[in-house]
Amino acid sequence: MSAAPPEERNELVERIARLRRERQAVILAHNYQLGEVQDIADFTGDSLDLSRRAAAADARTIVFCGVRFMAETAKILAPDRTVLLPDAESGCPMADMIDGVQLRRLKAEHPGAAVVCYVNSTAEVKAECDVCCTSANAARVVASVPADRELLFVPDRYLGGHVQRTSGRPMTLWPGYCPTHARILPEHVERRRREHPGAVVLAHPECRAEVTALADHVLSTGQMLRFVRESDATAFIVATEVGILHPLQRDNPGKRFIPASEQAICPNMKRITLEKVLWALEEMQTPIEIPEEVRRRAEASLRRMLDVG
Ligand code: 13P
Ligand code: SF4
Repeated sequence: MSAAPPEERNELVERIARLRRERQAVILAHNYQLGEVQDIADFTGDSLDLSRRAAAADARTIVFCGVRFMAETAKILAPDRTVLLPDAESGCPMADMIDGVQLRRLKAEHPGAAVVCYVNSTAEVKAECDVCCTSANAARVVASVPADRELLFVPDRYLGGHVQRTSGRPMTLWPGYCPTHARILPEHVERRRREHPGAVVLAHPECRAEVTALADHVLSTGQMLRFVRESDATAFIVATEVGILHPLQRDNPGKRFIPASEQAICPNMKRITLEKVLWALEEMQTPIEIPEEVRRRAEASLRRMLDVG
């Protein structure tokens, strides 16, 4: 998927490269970004890869091509850097499905319980939880909580449900979900399997339980990229946001990738274009600001996650 015509794109890419040097900036991009944005990034990856990059960044400015909770995570981990989100409206509906008031109420109903929160959440919610996780390390994070401690998992009922089924650990799940992944239905996967017998089915844990039940492997976006690189298979049905097809195809030109559903498009991830990356660097917009008291508590939850690995 591409937004700018080729001549315009080349000029934009050159201007971005010049300003990136002048501003001593690093550009991070999530695997669901437009292909042309992924191609100019210094680093691309899943939420866990990118939060590690942000924590280790020595650049003065981080341009975060992703959605708001990802840029906030970078700011929480690198508070002395300027973190820019090239489109201020690039949010995540799942992250907005629980707020601090709702989480405090849930905690009051379950005194003593530990709260694991998916990084797809606001800074305020991260500040209220015990430990964060991403789709790549959720199982390890849950296993790090003492077995006799009650567990609350927010906000993704599908990621939480997947960890609950694979670990056998009971959890209270908040009923949040990703509207983009919810569009992928089991009948889409079944149809693709009929059309492409022998293809390996990869699904993101944000998919409905009926979809992950049909998958050969349930993986984060970064894990999908690593899995495919090492696999001898040549065809893959991919049940996640379609942006992942760009790095999959780029890294594996001899392999075939079939989206489980072409409708699995996250509109927020597609808001960032090369023009907006350039404007972000020109105008230093939009800087992420988080009240220090919230940031400090959210950082503790993220650091506990990074310590688990
Ligand atoms: P990953 O961490 O697997 O890249 O997923 C992030 C996300 O928002 C999925 O919808
Ligand atoms: Fe949020 Fe879903 Fe978009 Fe990921 S794909 S950013 S969870 S809306």
